[in-house]
Amino acid sequence: MNNDELKRIFDQQASSYDKQWTRMAPISNGLYFLLEPIFAELPSEARVLCVGVGTGKELTHLAKRFPEWRFTVVEPSGAMLDICRRRVEEEGVTSRCYFHEGYLDTLQVEEMHDAATCFLVSQFILEQEARSAFFQQIANRLQPEGMLVSSDLSFEVDSENYEALLGVWQRVMSTSDVSPEGLSRMKAMYAKDVAVLPPTVVASIIESGGFDTPVQFFQAGLIHAWFAKRASSDIT
Ligand SMILES: C[S@@+](CC[C@H](N)C(=O)[O-])C[C@H]1O[C@@H](n2cnc3c(N)ncnc32)[C@H](O)[C@@H]1O
Repeated sequence: MNNDELKRIFDQQASSYDKQWTRMAPISNGLYFLLEPIFAELPSEARVLCVGVGTGKELTHLAKRFPEWRFTVVEPSGAMLDICRRRVEEEGVTSRCYFHEGYLDTLQVEEMHDAATCFLVSQFILEQEARSAFFQQIANRLQPEGMLVSSDLSFEVDSENYEALLGVWQRVMSTSDVSPEGLSRMKAMYAKDVAVLPPTVVASIIESGGFDTPVQFFQAGLIHAWFAKRASSDIT
């Protein structure tokens, strides 16, 4: 999928996105819970880059938890970003957010960030070189040793276990379409439109984008998450 197709899909999904993911709240909450110890050493007035923020769940979680942090919000889908803006407004944290409707390549860097989040975004970049360049764009906007937390769908899709986990994942994602045909459709969709790669490969892509060796700290079903500091060798 190219950027325009992806943007169109997220524009279409925006109004139902949060409802769709309500079932997954225990997974998101587990991930957000772990963000706090990972970000524990950030300054009290940290600046955080939220890439592909969607409807803004991770952003508002952090904004409520850390009342002095400021956020740069990057999201190409205008419809997703509209919902994010509303959520941010409802939480009373708008004054701490800078919104950028678009991609990282058009984000003006005025201030480097202490940390970045990137949840379920890089998986849509199908070519590994482009995915590595995407992480490099994040690294370029971080302070030396700035901390990235990234999550993606990830698994050894060639392993025997993939089918078994996919069956569980199908039930996690949906209560209705749990037929064998539904499973085949999900498998085909992940094979075509999402780069579901083994965790070691995703980690090496993040590293090649200018980070220290990523630490995988989370797995729930197909979702895996890593944290990594910007590599000192990346800074020229
Ligand atoms: C699956 S949603 C995840 C949203 C949110 N991070 C969450 O965890 O709920 C992926 C989001 O990333 C955005 N996105 C896709 N490709 C992107 C890119 N290259 N750069 C920034 N955002 C992107 C999409 O528009 C979409 O809102």
